Amino acid sequence: MDITKIMYRPGLMAGERILITGGGTGLGKVMAEAFLYLGAEVHTCGRRGAVAEEAADELMTRHGGKVVAHACDIRKPDAIDAMVEQIWSRHGALTGLVNNAAGNFISRTEDLSINGFNAISDIVFRGTFYITHNVGKRLIAQNARGNFLAILTTWVWNGGPFTVPSAMSKAGINVMTQSLATEWGRHGLRFNAIAPGTFPTKGMTERLSPGNAQGLQGRNADRGNPMGRVGEMHELANLAVLLMAPGADYINGQTIAIDGAGYQANAGNFYQSLSRMDDEQWAQMAAMIRGANDKDKAQRTT
Ligand code: HXC
Repeated sequence: MDITKIMYRPGLMAGERILITGGGTGLGKVMAEAFLYLGAEVHTCGRRGAVAEEAADELMTRHGGKVVAHACDIRKPDAIDAMVEQIWSRHGALTGLVNNAAGNFISRTEDLSINGFNAISDIVFRGTFYITHNVGKRLIAQNARGNFLAILTTWVWNGGPFTVPSAMSKAGINVMTQSLATEWGRHGLRFNAIAPGTFPTKGMTERLSPGNAQGLQGRNADRGNPMGRVGEMHELANLAVLLMAPGADYINGQTIAIDGAGYQANAGNFYQSLSRMDDEQWAQMAAMIRGANDKDKAQRTT
């Protein structure tokens, strides 16, 4: 990310302590960098402990400050509780939680196994609730304010063909955002979400556009986007700061798209690009995705 394009004053987020799930890679790392740059203490977690550690070291070398990486699988409520307890006791109460961790892969729904459905929904739907519930209860108990942000997708509004477990799970989190914005507003907790269009990351490209890792980086990746391009990381980071930093606290219960109007122009999902693939192409895609999954799995420490 080009840090000079962060549009806020240095020190804006001093005093904030924010946990970003999946903060060692992709969009999570981009948000971690922006929050750190603006003075926040940042915590990240991921299943690949060494990857999260490396990212934390890289960001601290670049900007100073404090980034603490935790190895944690958010599918496990006990592991979440242990991590959050450690943050509270060693560092202090969180002031914010970014629910960014996700799992996803393209598949015809008729080809999905129950395990495949669960692998995605356990991370996105259940894991997001477990950690939100854990952090929310602690903040309520100590009468402290808190900001919650979820990274969703525009599919929550119109469906995600060929990514049904992800679309269903993120739609659930969209409703959680609206529900808790109202229920927990009186406790000083607010809930918002971002629905990004295409912001190419490694994890996403390997699972949503396998074999096209180069293509997604260029202007051809726009899938007919009105702005003729994909998103740039600082654009997402600037929106995340708006929602997580003090100053615009009256924004509550909103899901904001940042997609160049791709959703309005072409539905923002995979219907057009994947509906004509044949059996052989799907088999090739699945093999490439499983290859990426296996490589990631070999690096997991939890
Ligand atoms: C069919 C598949 C498959 C594929 C895995 N499975 N890949 N089925 N097609 N391509 C099946 C497996 O066969 C198995 O079922 C089950 O899914 C679980 O697979 P595991 O690899 O054991 O799962 P696990 O180790 O838990 O990994 C979870 C994962 C993986 C979701 C499958 O992809 C992951 O960890 N992803 C994290 C990173 C990620 O996905 N990033 C992209 C997010 S992008 P069986 O029946 O064989 O046991 C994103 C962007 C959305 O969310 C917005 C864009 C605009």
